[in-house]
Amino acid sequence: MKKVKAIFAMMLFSFGAFAQSSNANEGAIWDDPILLFYITAGFMFVVALLVIVVALYMLQVLRYLAKDAAMERAKKAGVEFVEEPSWWAKLNQKLYGYVPIEKEETIMLDHNYDGIRELDNHLPPWWKWLFIGSIIWGVFYLIAYHVTSSLPLQIDEYQNEVAVAEEQIRKLKAANPGAVIDENTVMLATDATALADGKETFNNICSSCHRVDGGGDIGPNLTDQYWKHGGSIKDVFTIVKNGVPNTNMVAWGGALSPEKMQNVSSYLLTLQGTNPPNAKAPEGDLYVPEAKEPVVSDTIKTQASL
Ligand code: HEC
Repeated sequence: MKKVKAIFAMMLFSFGAFAQSSNANEGAIWDDPILLFYITAGFMFVVALLVIVVALYMLQVLRYLAKDAAMERAKKAGVEFVEEPSWWAKLNQKLYGYVPIEKEETIMLDHNYDGIRELDNHLPPWWKWLFIGSIIWGVFYLIAYHVTSSLPLQIDEYQNEVAVAEEQIRKLKAANPGAVIDENTVMLATDATALADGKETFNNICSSCHRVDGGGDIGPNLTDQYWKHGGSIKDVFTIVKNGVPNTNMVAWGGALSPEKMQNVSSYLLTLQGTNPPNAKAPEGDLYVPEAKEPVVSDTIKTQASL
């Protein structure tokens, strides 16, 4: 079973990779019961298909053997061997209801245009029944969806799903504040691992414009108390996540996970007051922290990586 899981995981990752956000942790796939259900169902479907193919093949072999034996018997008895029409031929006859070529004369219409004549064939039964079925379905649909409104239309289905998802988010947020990190719930991370992670992100990505020491270059100086967009953890996180339109500060929300953005925002706030040499002149307004910033406690930290 482990091997099978591994193979499916490989297949899934190969096309799921595009949809994965960067903060997806491995193994999460097996925690999702619905996904697991689909994988199991898909696996059983393939197995069932294989069994059916083998069974059909065996049946075909049996048919040939039986036909052979019947021909042998007919030969011995000295009668002509007449083959039973196959189930396929019978099915075709039922579905199409065509008149055999030998009996065509019975449905020939009497006009004749230079040798071109016309057969008065029926509509194929499969088509006729599908047509009648679709009319019945249409009546049912009209009544159920538009008259009694007992079944939800697509827009209602969508709204129901959104409502359910919103309820889930609300519960999740209530159960562990910090598990969903966004502009409203972001907090200052103070533990060494988080800050080290933030430093790595800052040095890799942000330093090209803000300098490794935060002194500012293309982007503003991040070490002084002057901010164009506010200096609280929420302000900084918001700018990192959404960027500043029409400037070189792009939105990092798509590239960095919320936790990584929280870490890098927290790290850059540790650069406050470091006074690096040749720093850029202050831009924006003086920001005086109103109260102590909310800090990520260790318990919340562990929940954050859920
Ligand atoms: C391509 C250059 C560039 C990169 C890369 C960049 N920034 Fe910026 N950043 C800017 C510019 C330009 C501004 C000023 C935007 C404005 O005029 O409001 C800015 C503004 C900011 C501000 C607001 C400063 C203030 O005064 O309010 C913060 C915070 C910030 N950047 C953080 C980051 C972080 C964190 C990263 C890395 C994830 C990053 N930046 C990457 C160019 C960049």
